Amino acid sequence: MTPTGILVTGGAGFVGSALALRARQAWPEARVTAFDNLRRRGSELNLPRLREAGVQFVHGDIRSPADLAALAHGLDLLVECSAEPSVLAGYDGDPSYVVDTNLGGTVHCLELARRAGAAVVFLSTSRVYPIATLNAIATTDGGTRCEIAPVQTLPGVSPAGISEDFPLAGARSIYGATKLASELLITEYREAFGLRTLVNRCGVIAGPWQMGKVDQGVFSLWMSRHLAGGTLTYNGWSGEGKQVRDLLHVDDLADLVCTQVAGLDQFDGETFNVGGGLGCSLSLQETTRLCQELTGRRITISPVPDVRTADVKLYVTDNARVTAATGWAPRRSPATVLADIRDWMTAHAVDLRRAGV
Ligand SMILES: NC(=O)c1ccc[n+]([C@@H]2O[C@H](COP(=O)([O-])OP(=O)(O)OC[C@H]3O[C@@H](n4cnc5c(N)ncnc54)[C@H](O)[C@@H]3O)[C@@H](O)[C@H]2O)c1
Repeated sequence: MTPTGILVTGGAGFVGSALALRARQAWPEARVTAFDNLRRRGSELNLPRLREAGVQFVHGDIRSPADLAALAHGLDLLVECSAEPSVLAGYDGDPSYVVDTNLGGTVHCLELARRAGAAVVFLSTSRVYPIATLNAIATTDGGTRCEIAPVQTLPGVSPAGISEDFPLAGARSIYGATKLASELLITEYREAFGLRTLVNRCGVIAGPWQMGKVDQGVFSLWMSRHLAGGTLTYNGWSGEGKQVRDLLHVDDLADLVCTQVAGLDQFDGETFNVGGGLGCSLSLQETTRLCQELTGRRITISPVPDVRTADVKLYVTDNARVTAATGWAPRRSPATVLADIRDWMTAHAVDLRRAGV
């Protein structure tokens, strides 16, 4: 499709702002609106970028259908990027915000899309896969990282990573559950009302303009501490920092979403695992070394034996399905991701400090 009215919910966030800005470039004739309640600390720093690019900003809350109602006119593509994205959300005893935003918000988006006849692209997460099952993946010690063992008893996992066939039964964090429940409702809205939909289950996304914090945005956090000073910890798994994540540059994600939207008739109804893959993955130990090389600085990183709530030892995306369907593959390397974060943090150090990021 060639969209003419695009709404990006969570459009002042890390992913949402990147996708809104890319949409402006890809479809210059389209009206692009970013909708956000600015809850994420630092998200307000994205507002001037959006304004300068011609993206309209609407301040509103996805929990409120009334806030969204006015946006139906002319809408033909809704990209849902709003969220409380922390895997620790709700464990403090009050899951209402994460549930109301991530699940209730999806329902409100689906209703808006249904009324407007708009297609929906949903940013889901690798966290839909259950924690205990992910931690049951057989691994070997690769020196600076743990690696996926060649022989596995679980389906959907190989040394190339975790595919869409990985089992879904089991607890996955409140955050992960809100995303999986959203996926289920998206399937139902597609079936019942003929909505065109697409779901990307993303591994860690990283890059400039991510306002990293301890519980979300680990690569931004790692670079920020190396640049500004402070300490970090290697939590769990003997405190050696061998836990692994793939990391997808947000520009690689934007490349993919543009391809998917342009070919939406072909990808309608799909759910893809999407990430940096094995070729763009790092252990914490390796991240530390890259940050040291890129900043010339060393900071204290202490081992903490306890595994953090909802943490997993390893997540690497197997992109085989999305690559076969779209031809897309991530192009940016871990060094590029971290160098881009460093350059952005350096250029915007004063603003970031002022915003408390
Ligand atoms: N960043 C990642 O590594 C990653 C990985 C997988 C999936 N995702 C998904 O991508 C999407 C975007 O995540 P992100 O990294 O950009 O997070 P983010 O926190 O940077 O952006 C989310 C935005 O949503 C806004 N928001 C929160 N509650 C809201 C509400 N009630 N109403 C309106 N706006 C609200 C926040 O202010 C923020 O600007 C999320 O759906 C997340 O689950 C992110």
